[in-house]
Amino acid sequence: MEVVETIAQLRTLRQSLKGRVGLVPTMGYLHAGHVSLVAAARADNQHVVATIFVNPTQFAANEDLASYPRDMPRDLNMLQKAGVNIVFAPKAESIYPSDFQTYITVEQVSQGREGGARPGHFRGVATVVAKLFNLVQPHSAYFGQKDAQQVVVIRQMVRDLNFLLSIVVCPIVRETDGLAMSSRNVYLTPDERQSAKILHRALQIVGKLYDEGERRPQVLRQTAWDILDHEKRVQPSYVSLADARNLQEIEQPIDQPLLFSIAAQVGKPRLLDNCLLPLALNTQEGATRVLGAD
Ligand code: PAJ
Repeated sequence: MEVVETIAQLRTLRQSLKGRVGLVPTMGYLHAGHVSLVAAARADNQHVVATIFVNPTQFAANEDLASYPRDMPRDLNMLQKAGVNIVFAPKAESIYPSDFQTYITVEQVSQGREGGARPGHFRGVATVVAKLFNLVQPHSAYFGQKDAQQVVVIRQMVRDLNFLLSIVVCPIVRETDGLAMSSRNVYLTPDERQSAKILHRALQIVGKLYDEGERRPQVLRQTAWDILDHEKRVQPSYVSLADARNLQEIEQPIDQPLLFSIAAQVGKPRLLDNCLLPLALNTQEGATRVLGAD
């Protein structure tokens, strides 16, 4: 495995690669969710490039950029074991030199949910991901359904700006008790960690209701609010039921795949979780086909 820090080194290495290249962008502090993206990339490509970059432009001033968890030696060890060929771990100054002034704003699908709670977040994500696509020139790039709105934003950008690559969406990897894995779970105290299980519980119950025939959006959303209300440590920020293609919030039943998503503050971290409806869509094939599809 080669580990490179500069854009010049990355470009030289990229030119030497023959065959399909898969890209797995991350902010490090890796867990089994990230490793699942690498496994999916390995299955489809001759070469896998992973990136580790805590992207400053996607953090608002009041957020945890400085304290975002980092452990480069551990991450490199995990990526090596997972079979990554090249790791690009640039310094912030290489990605954002002092005269940097070009940003990408993906309009509608960046609004609401994470975009509402974190102004400017998706502008930072779209900008850095576009740069990584240009630098690595992958045939496919791998993203987690965990950050479903991020997938929809990136897919819209890929279409709008004619990037020539496919986006693959990998299912959410969970702890044994159902909590979606996240680098920010380390911020949870033991009590908060117990309470956090309720997010997945709410999704399971809503998913079952939907699969059994309940279609009224208000009933599905209210069911989740009522479940989340049982845990005083869990402060929901939104419960969303939207068209999985374009994230338009729905008020009437529609005959299309849906994204049911929840965000909640649990102590220090904001936790996200979601499921596609019907529940059978929560696979790599299902999520890749419907989430942010044209
Ligand atoms: P990060 O939070 O490190 O996540 C990197 C990738 O791992 C994302 O595609 C994310 O959706 C996926 N991921 C995270 N938790 C997961 C889980 N439990 N199961 C499956 N996949 C999971 O997302 C980012 O970084 C950044 O916004 C980035 C795209 C790298 C741009 O800076």
